Amino acid sequence: MKLLHIDSSALGANSVTRELSAAVAARWQDDLPGVVVDHLDLDADPIPHLTGRSLAKDDPAENDRSERILQQFLQADVIVIGAPMYNFGIPSTLKAWIDRIAVAGKTFRYTAEGPEGLAKGKKAIIVSGRGGLHSGQPSDFQETYLRHVLGFVGVTDVEFVRAEGVSYSPQHRADALAAAHASIPRPQRLAA
Ligand SMILES: Cc1cc2nc3c(=O)[nH]c(=O)nc-3n(C[C@H](O)[C@H](O)[C@H](O)COP(=O)(O)O)c2cc1C
Repeated sequence: MKLLHIDSSALGANSVTRELSAAVAARWQDDLPGVVVDHLDLDADPIPHLTGRSLAKDDPAENDRSERILQQFLQADVIVIGAPMYNFGIPSTLKAWIDRIAVAGKTFRYTAEGPEGLAKGKKAIIVSGRGGLHSGQPSDFQETYLRHVLGFVGVTDVEFVRAEGVSYSPQHRADALAAAHASIPRPQRLAA
């Protein structure tokens, strides 16, 4: 089983989502020996914005990287995404990754009945961190977006590990982190 562990927080050692995403990945490794983890740090090693040159495949180095990112996603059984809320949405570094994995003909296609996701059979665990409280609010363009775009490419088994209100006070942050750690789901074997 392959687990793709993605981080996108720019806050390094002070990051809530990095702490939690590492705990999720560790739980999978502890509970399911043999899980192979691939770590993608989108802050340390950002993916370039998708541009006209990218779509034209003008730059062989960029094209190779884009293909490697897509294959890494396609080969993963489980994807753990550390996703802080930035300006009500996701970090642009994480959006740059999505722009490389949402590829017509590879991860989705349009049919006479509408769009169809092609990256089926995967599980995603979104580790969400936010300074304020946004659950169920119109201000949530982060979790709702991630659920939607993952569903669009065929990943419909999505769980959330959430720490929110972390900017309210140190106590809020500590409580939110403790609750998020306690909510980390136990891994289950995915159907072959
Ligand atoms: C650039 C930036 C933008 C942010 N924008 C928001 C926001 O729109 N709403 C919010 O509730 N918190 C916002 N925050 C707070 C983060 O969501 C919060 O610090 C969260 O813990 C980030 O996850 P991290 O600790 O893993 O980086 C922002 C933080 C940063 C650094």
